[in-house]
Amino acid sequence: MAHRRALVLLTYHLVSLLAAVIGSERQRHHVQHGPCTYTFVLPEDFPQRVANTLQRDSPVSQGDPGPGAGVKDPQGEDAAKAGTKQKPSWQERKLENLESATENNTLWLQKLESYIQENVRSGMEEKRNAVHNQTAAMLEMGTNLLSQSAAQTRKLTDVETQVLNQTSRLEIQLLEYSLFTNRLEKHILQQTQEISRLNEKNSFLEQRFSALESSYGRELQDLQQEKQQLQELLDRQSRLVSQLQGEVDGSTANSTLLQRQQVLLTNSVQQLLAMVNHCNEISTTPKEEPASFRDCADILRSGVKDNGIYSILLPNSTHTVKVFCDMKTRGGGWTVLQHRRNGSVDFHRGWRDYKTGFGDPSGEHWLGNDIIHQLTSSQDYSLQVQLRDREGNEVYSHYDHFHVDAEDANYSLHAKGFSGTAGRTSSLTHSGTAFSTKDRDNDRCTCKCAQIASGGWWFEACGPSNLNGMFYPASSTVVRYNSIKWYYWKGPTLMATMTTMMVRPANL
Ligand SMILES: *[C@@H]1O[C@H](CO)[C@@H](O)[C@H](O)[C@H]1NC(C)=O
Ligand SMILES: *[C@@H]1O[C@H](CO)[C@@H](O)[C@H](O)[C@H]1NC(C)=O
Ligand SMILES: *[C@@H]1O[C@H](CO)[C@@H](O)[C@H](O)[C@H]1NC(C)=O
Ligand SMILES: *[C@@H]1O[C@H](CO)[C@@H](O)[C@H](O)[C@H]1NC(C)=O
Ligand SMILES: *[C@@H]1O[C@H](CO)[C@@H](O)[C@H](O)[C@H]1NC(C)=O
Ligand SMILES: *[C@@H]1O[C@H](CO)[C@@H](O)[C@H](O)[C@H]1NC(C)=O
Ligand SMILES: *[C@@H]1O[C@H](CO)[C@@H](O)[C@H](O)[C@H]1NC(C)=O
Repeated sequence: MAHRRALVLLTYHLVSLLAAVIGSERQRHHVQHGPCTYTFVLPEDFPQRVANTLQRDSPVSQGDPGPGAGVKDPQGEDAAKAGTKQKPSWQERKLENLESATENNTLWLQKLESYIQENVRSGMEEKRNAVHNQTAAMLEMGTNLLSQSAAQTRKLTDVETQVLNQTSRLEIQLLEYSLFTNRLEKHILQQTQEISRLNEKNSFLEQRFSALESSYGRELQDLQQEKQQLQELLDRQSRLVSQLQGEVDGSTANSTLLQRQQVLLTNSVQQLLAMVNHCNEISTTPKEEPASFRDCADILRSGVKDNGIYSILLPNSTHTVKVFCDMKTRGGGWTVLQHRRNGSVDFHRGWRDYKTGFGDPSGEHWLGNDIIHQLTSSQDYSLQVQLRDREGNEVYSHYDHFHVDAEDANYSLHAKGFSGTAGRTSSLTHSGTAFSTKDRDNDRCTCKCAQIASGGWWFEACGPSNLNGMFYPASSTVVRYNSIKWYYWKGPTLMATMTTMMVRPANL
């Protein structure tokens, strides 16, 4: 009985010990022994206590019943009571029982121990698994990294080989280039040698040339002297020619003078005849004014058929004007307003000159804007523009109706009924265009046409014509903006050798 109790106690302690080991894993543990169940919850400082309890409880304390031992094992107590009745084998049997019980307990304890060990091991294994897993993961990562680095290395080596390939190719090219350069250098050397040889030849030739030059120099001087002599001769002859020209001009002037005198004589004869007639009829009537011509058409009508300078009397005035009459062109009777032929007269003049007129009727001249106005406003006049190019071809532009306003309207131009051979379109600006000179700008340009194009004219902006522009020699081929211009005949510059503007009554 005492042995059993001791065993139970021992068991209790062992179980407590093992449970404590399990409890250190922070678990509640249930232990089944036969019909009984034990639940153990143990503190954390277990191992020291276990040591103490083991030492304290190993000797068996007799007669000290274990807590609840009697209640838990009533069958065992009955067996013990039965054992006490058989005295001779009692001690032996008890010993045997004790031994088997001890054995049982030992077995059971072994089982328990192995169970606990298993538990502990499984816990350990979980941790180990985790570590394993982590290690495996690390290893996996490691292998991954290794494989990646291997791939990179492979790529690098590829790139390296490519670079090496390129470098070798470049080197080959460089080699080729250097070979080429060498060849070029050789070539250049050869050329240089050639050049120096040529230079030598050249210097030899130069020497010969200078020798020849010096020998010919004297001859040249002789020739130059001869040339000078010839030049002087030429000058003398030109002077003679110009003298002759002057004489010819003088004779022409004399002939025109004679013509004028003839006209005057004709006038006087007519006047005398009229006077005689009047005297014959009524001797008391007052003297009539001398017969006068309004224009060249009048003179033509009087029977004069020769070109020349005649006097006309302006309408509504006592003022006589000398004009050149063209009695040949298209039936004649033309009063000349403007004439150019050799550039002897400067046409780049101011308002006053154009107002009163300039030049001589026998040569280049402008009749004068006041006279032109008075003449063309007294009756209906037509205008004829005669042009001659440097080949001697003559063309004309004709306007059926033409008149020029007074000075207070800035001598505005009015021309209608165009026809002619100097272009299909009229080169005069349209009606109403005012007259401009370098000192009176009446054009429709922000510029000053009379200053740019030179002369005085009916400039618009600046318009297709200017017969009063600069007279350039017929040989000039340069396009000049300020030259004589009649655009629709020959374009921007007209190389005219002659221009004439003249009027006669429209009904003639
Ligand atoms: C030992 O245990 C077994 C099974 O648990 C049981 O059959 C046997 O009677 C026990 N022996 C003693 C001496 O208690
Ligand atoms: C270890 O990995 C295996 C398989 O991936 C998995 O089944 C197991 O639960 C993992 N264990 C731990 C402790 O993570
Ligand atoms: C360079 O690479 C090209 C192809 O990309 C190959 O044909 C050639 O032979 C290589 N050259 C060298 C010197 O390796
Ligand atoms: C022009 O006539 C005058 C006389 O009227 C004369 O003296 C002069 O010599 C003449 N001139 C020429 C160039 O014939
Ligand atoms: C131009 O003609 C006029 C008249 O015939 C003449 O007097 C003058 O000398 C000429 N001028 C030139 C430059 O030929
Ligand atoms: C001339 O005078 C008359 C009467 O005085 C006048 O009707 C006419 O318009 C004048 N002509 C000119 C051109 O001035
Ligand atoms: C004439 O020209 C002047 C400027 O030169 C201008 O002031 C005047 O108005 C013009 N007259 C007419 C009628 O256009």
